[in-house]
Amino acid sequence: METLVTSPEIERYIQNLYPVEDPLLAEMNERGNKINFPLVGPLVGRLLYQLAKMTGAKKIFEMGSGFGYSAFWFALALPEDGIIYLTDQSAKNLELAKQFFTKGNLIRKAQFHVGDAIEALSQTKESFDIIFIDMDKESYPKALELAKPKIKSGGLLIADNLLWFGQVLEKKGDSATEGIKKFNQMLFNDCNFISTLLPIRDGVGVAYKIK
Ligand SMILES: C[S@@+](CC[C@H](N)C(=O)[O-])C[C@H]1O[C@@H](n2cnc3c(N)ncnc32)[C@H](O)[C@@H]1O
Repeated sequence: METLVTSPEIERYIQNLYPVEDPLLAEMNERGNKINFPLVGPLVGRLLYQLAKMTGAKKIFEMGSGFGYSAFWFALALPEDGIIYLTDQSAKNLELAKQFFTKGNLIRKAQFHVGDAIEALSQTKESFDIIFIDMDKESYPKALELAKPKIKSGGLLIADNLLWFGQVLEKKGDSATEGIKKFNQMLFNDCNFISTLLPIRDGVGVAYKIK
């Protein structure tokens, strides 16, 4: 059974405390709501922005970018010479992301990769200040395994949907639920990270890599 971790009223209350959103982000969020596309939304988006700013991130890799909403928040936080790699299996999604990034004058900070995010990450030899995981839930354990050596010491691994609308409470869930449960066990037992599961929206994991 799917449950929301925080009530919509509480979400609205928190959101109303925040400054007015960038008009393009508002447009993207509205579009997501309209077509029922699962983007992170303004509360988590703002957290991503804050984390990137706090850590002075310059290089970010995103696994599962959709049409660029979460990446847009990250890109706003990046310095002039910063870069975010967007990955998505859908060319259509990334085409739309490119349009929003162009409109928002952020295109110079972005690189787009169509295809499997696991494959894309495994092919790169670079390391990153932040890796953000928001792709198919079955792949989360593999994504963590691959991401770990590619995050710099002092960098962050961030992952969305770690409460999976309450389904993590199920003894034996479907493959997506089991993917998230396994990921949570792996991450929170890994002494190379200091990790917290924030119960915002659907649960956001923030893990600081200490070595
Ligand atoms: C939850 S949405 C991402 C939303 C985005 N992070 C945001 O908040 O704006 C998940 C996206 O991951 C993509 N995806 C799922 N599995 C993938 C994979 N193995 N490789 C690349 N993209 C994948 C889907 O096409 C979808 O657009």
